Amino acid sequence: VRKAIFDSDTASDDTVAMFLASRWFHLLGVTVVAGNVDFLQEVRNAVFTVEELGLNTDVYPGSRRPILGKWRTVPEVHGANGMGSLNVVEKGRASEEHAVDAIVRLSKEYPKDVEVLAVSPLTNIALAYLRDPELVDRVNKVWIMGGALWRGNTTPSAEFNFWVDPEAASIVLSAGFDVTVVPWEAAEMCAVVDDELWTEIGGLNTKTSKFFLEVNDALRKFSKAQGNPGSVHPDTLTVMVAAHPEIVKESKRVFISVETCSEARGAMMVDSYGLTGRKANAELVLGCDPLTFRRLLLGELSR
Ligand code: BDR
Ligand code: CA
Repeated sequence: VRKAIFDSDTASDDTVAMFLASRWFHLLGVTVVAGNVDFLQEVRNAVFTVEELGLNTDVYPGSRRPILGKWRTVPEVHGANGMGSLNVVEKGRASEEHAVDAIVRLSKEYPKDVEVLAVSPLTNIALAYLRDPELVDRVNKVWIMGGALWRGNTTPSAEFNFWVDPEAASIVLSAGFDVTVVPWEAAEMCAVVDDELWTEIGGLNTKTSKFFLEVNDALRKFSKAQGNPGSVHPDTLTVMVAAHPEIVKESKRVFISVETCSEARGAMMVDSYGLTGRKANAELVLGCDPLTFRRLLLGELSR
């Protein structure tokens, strides 16, 4: 079984991705980072999800601020506590160990046998790398949900995860990890739970399907208001891309950098034509199959 660290700003879709990751990987730990909602709430959400769904892993609280410190949380996307209408109660406890320490430690315990599923701002991963650059040699693969090709969801040019911490994204992309990037548009194209799929999930009547509907109902309203036919699931798609590569229909090896200075902070720059002469540093996912998304999601929520 492949081993993974799941790095998350735990709210709605992150919890679904976490659950799927636990089904398809041996989850070595969930590391939490500042992003979607209040940091301590994210930690509560992560611990609650692990306990409620019996995921059998530890939660490590990590960076409470992005590298340059300023961002805004998005309760309007995920609900006030980030978990839609799900009633999150105090359950279990997070580990005392810091996420950055845990990432470095786990990579030493399982050298060349650990992947990182990063569905959040990249602060924890960047700090772990700065702390111990040999991390690059011990981590097999970094799967990143981040970046917008042309439909920034936070500013006209930036996707939320890259916008929150563009410095961290830049550090991780230039570090030399084996990286795959799943951008926002890939999710809008093939990871949407429309009314029909939503109803079908409702009909499954399992613990996880009920959890899914409650945790994502605020996200669904927000995504629909943005003009999508249902809730958009970029984090879930990223875990699917990692575990079930057949979902990817188009991808390209490219050099990617992230804007850190201007009004376009957080913008992802993709050198599609090799204009910079820089060596490709990522596989960029450009198209996925919505039917595979549907099949995998229904399959896991039904049991
Ligand atoms: C990303 O931002 C967060 O709100 C989601 O969890 C996802 O990781 C989408 O831009
Ligand atoms: Ca996320």
